[in-house]
Amino acid sequence: MEQYVIKGGRPLKGEVVISGAKNSALGILAAAVLSEEPVCIKNLPDIRDINVLLHAMENIGAVIERLDAHTVKIYSKNVHPMAVDDEYIRKIRGSYYLIGALLGRFKKTQVVLPGGCNIGSRPIDQHIKGFEALGAKVAIQHGMVIAEAPELSGSHIYLDIVSVGATINIMLAACLAEGQTILENAAKEPHIVDVANFLNSMGANIKGAGTDVIKINGVKKLHGSTYSIIPDQIEAGTFMLAAAATRGDIIIHNVIPKHLEAISAKLVEIGATVDEMDDAVHVVAPERLGHTHVKTLPYPGFPTDMQPQITTLLALSEGTSIVTESIYESRFKYVDELSRMGASIKVEGNTAIVDGVNRITGATLCASDLRAGAALVIAGLVAEGFTVVEQIEFIERGYENFEGKLKALGACIEKVDSGDERALHKFKLKVG
Ligand code: EPZ
Repeated sequence: MEQYVIKGGRPLKGEVVISGAKNSALGILAAAVLSEEPVCIKNLPDIRDINVLLHAMENIGAVIERLDAHTVKIYSKNVHPMAVDDEYIRKIRGSYYLIGALLGRFKKTQVVLPGGCNIGSRPIDQHIKGFEALGAKVAIQHGMVIAEAPELSGSHIYLDIVSVGATINIMLAACLAEGQTILENAAKEPHIVDVANFLNSMGANIKGAGTDVIKINGVKKLHGSTYSIIPDQIEAGTFMLAAAATRGDIIIHNVIPKHLEAISAKLVEIGATVDEMDDAVHVVAPERLGHTHVKTLPYPGFPTDMQPQITTLLALSEGTSIVTESIYESRFKYVDELSRMGASIKVEGNTAIVDGVNRITGATLCASDLRAGAALVIAGLVAEGFTVVEQIEFIERGYENFEGKLKALGACIEKVDSGDERALHKFKLKVG
């Protein structure tokens, strides 16, 4: 196990380059198994979740050729439809995209379901609703999803809840079905559009991705493709808020500013400046930042995956802010950790009342999930003294070289083995 040790108090300054989008890449990698022809995927983030999914795909017969840390060639000719229980598939939620892809290609599949999550129960009833509407029989037995259909036929599906995963999984299952599928109340996140663009580059016929009505006209076969993943809007947003929290001045390269609008708007509301360029944003924060109200919503609303980060920023801004989490039922667990640093946040149900404070002090903290972990690192960058963030494997699931990118922006942060007191002491001596 490893941990981050951070000495707070230094504003982030300089430039950082954003990696490919984790939540696009998971859907796109799974989609690659829909074709028997080779597929080349570029701008993959070099993170744990992606590497786990690639291993899981190898375990069902895909041949993965790594051209470099961010580029893979995938040969799926010999893939078989039974993604049975293996250590990799159960580790990440994104593996459930293999259900839609394998069902779409083979009309049958068996995939082990991922375990629970620290941010709330994450059912897949809407995924199953879509598969059944296409003609599949779906059962959940012994922790596996078993789906089979004599054939898959287009259908008119109305999602009861806006679901990123269900939207992507149904697109995967429908693109080789007979006839047209209309998916209503679809999610509109940038990664939905990215997966649809990738599928269309393979010969699929999908229209309307990015709106709440997606039309998928089934085709006979999908051919190979070369495709580059879009930049990760959540990684970019995390660096934007880290810059603001540390009262820094950074330029964030390889972004699509449009995808960041909800985050930029909130930063401007509290007094930061955000200058948008073609593929970069420049964030500058003054000493005094104000308060605001935030409610997480499906895209283009404020992303739930940025909720822990903005709550941390507002804990260090003037005045009282309200943060409402409308997507998950328990995504405020990290607040207890911030309170141990001196933050003043009261959680009532799915709302956090954030009274800004002038200072917080370093402590030993425990990351409970990916985005909460990133928020605790942001708190450590600002806190007086030293902060240790444990269980950073959560953070490394979704952030490529997080401490390296922060260090390049002037942060005093090091990754050390948990319990390696000598390394901890050495870092403290080095930074003084
Ligand atoms: C994706 O999860 C992301 N993960 C999540 O990011 C993100 O928080 C979420 O979308 C919302 O944007 C990946 O893409 C791998 P949903 P997903 O289906 O698809 C409920 C991160 O930090 N729901 O849009 O699982 C669900 O419980 C992760 O990168 C059902 O009730 O999210 C949740 O309350 C965390 N039934 C809401 O809908 C279903 O069948 C939104 O979930 C599906 C979802």
